[in-house]
Amino acid sequence: MGIACDFLLQNRAVFELTHEIYNKYPDAPAVGTFAFATPALVLRDLKNIEEVMTGDFNTFNDRGFNINPKVDRLADNVLLMNGIRWKLTRQKMTPLFTSSKLRNMYYIMDKSGKDFVEYLRTEPKEQAFDILTTFCSAAIGASVFGIHTQSIMDSPFLKMARKALEPSPTLTLRFTLNDMFPKLLEIFKLKIFGDFEEFFIGAIKNVLRVREQQATRTHDFADLCMGLQQKGTMRDPETGYEMEPTDELMAAQAFFFFIAGVEPSATAMFFALFEMAKHPDIQSRVHEEIDQVFDECDGKLTFEAVTNMKYLDMVLDESMRMHPAIGNLLRRCMRDGAVLPVGNIKVDKGTLIHLPIYAIHHDPRHYPEPEKFIPERFSQENKKNINNYAFLPFGEGHRICIGMRFARLQVKTGLVHALRHFTVETRDAGTNIKFGKLPAQMRPTNIDLQFVLRASS
Ligand code: HEM
Repeated sequence: MGIACDFLLQNRAVFELTHEIYNKYPDAPAVGTFAFATPALVLRDLKNIEEVMTGDFNTFNDRGFNINPKVDRLADNVLLMNGIRWKLTRQKMTPLFTSSKLRNMYYIMDKSGKDFVEYLRTEPKEQAFDILTTFCSAAIGASVFGIHTQSIMDSPFLKMARKALEPSPTLTLRFTLNDMFPKLLEIFKLKIFGDFEEFFIGAIKNVLRVREQQATRTHDFADLCMGLQQKGTMRDPETGYEMEPTDELMAAQAFFFFIAGVEPSATAMFFALFEMAKHPDIQSRVHEEIDQVFDECDGKLTFEAVTNMKYLDMVLDESMRMHPAIGNLLRRCMRDGAVLPVGNIKVDKGTLIHLPIYAIHHDPRHYPEPEKFIPERFSQENKKNINNYAFLPFGEGHRICIGMRFARLQVKTGLVHALRHFTVETRDAGTNIKFGKLPAQMRPTNIDLQFVLRASS
């Protein structure tokens, strides 16, 4: 019964299962398996991976997840949509993440970073991963719904965002049913995210109605949604397919910025800090870079200053290589007769394709001594030699993370503010890391960090 069955019956994350399969067949370009009764492939060869992620759009664009947008309104989002509906929504959402939009939005991220430092000063009692999840929920909340004078950590959206992110057995069951019996969801009109509909659709409607009355631009996501609504019907020029930018459609995208954005951002921050705690020499170099930038900006961090922090970028990249937030991705083949070039592998319609990111990032063919933390792998000079498809923390190709640049900026801003005032330490440097039983994410469960105020703070 393959990966899906092992996932249900064993206490392991999917990325651990695909990593095991990947290592068992070191000479194969791909390994055949099943997801219950559906044929599945675990890809090992980078050319085949490129074909799936970036090749013919109509063959492999599907995430392998069934949704019923008429019933499950929050599932109608750019992460879970497929086909033409996804293509049009993605086209309309992409301009929200340009450099100039991010620069305009930077003031929100900077305030989030400062509020985070104040929060850390209160010595919160939760585990570091939870502290970082709280920060990322609050910071994404601020970028979606805007900021006010109070701390982002007091946002009314925080409670709901945290609830939406909690691992819940009912949610796992609904996801599994979706995989095994998609028709069942349709017949019984079951919703995957029904619990959050009222709150999120209500919240976005309120924010949009208030904004319509305001003269000043706020440059947050709600502001950008309003711009889309003012332009009216969305239309795909190639096919003529049309969609209305309704409040519900905007709410589904906003909801998914939380679902898709918070946990990966928290994971990226957590592991970057964890590796710095394990390697104090590397942390010192990052501290030096941050202190220098703060001095140059006279204490006021700018968008350009954060964007240009080269050593922090190297540390973040190496950390996302060793600990990608999403350890395994899925695609579904949408037509019969598809062929993967290496090994001439014929792929039938409906076949699920696993892209084992964690396994690729730990393959010594791509990274010598893969278990060693070496930020220099990502220096300007060295990173030119890394194949695009061997470094996939944000995915690649048609469905690459839409929030990638936003996420990098937000993660770096949070790290820079925190490390300006704190040093991170860990008592778990030698611990064998354990992960939550999750379909894509890599959530560590048995390691922690301590934030210690720096002498200069
Ligand atoms: C460090 C933080 C993040 C990481 C590591 C990450 C990683 C990923 C990955 C691996 C994918 C799948 C790409 C693929 O299938 O090829 C993805 C998709 C996506 N991410 Fe992110 N992400 C992060 C932050 C964010 C943020 C902050 C947002 C929202 C503002 C976001 C929104 C999305 C969306 C909407 C998709 C679906 C794109 C599509 O299917 O067209 N992500 N992300």
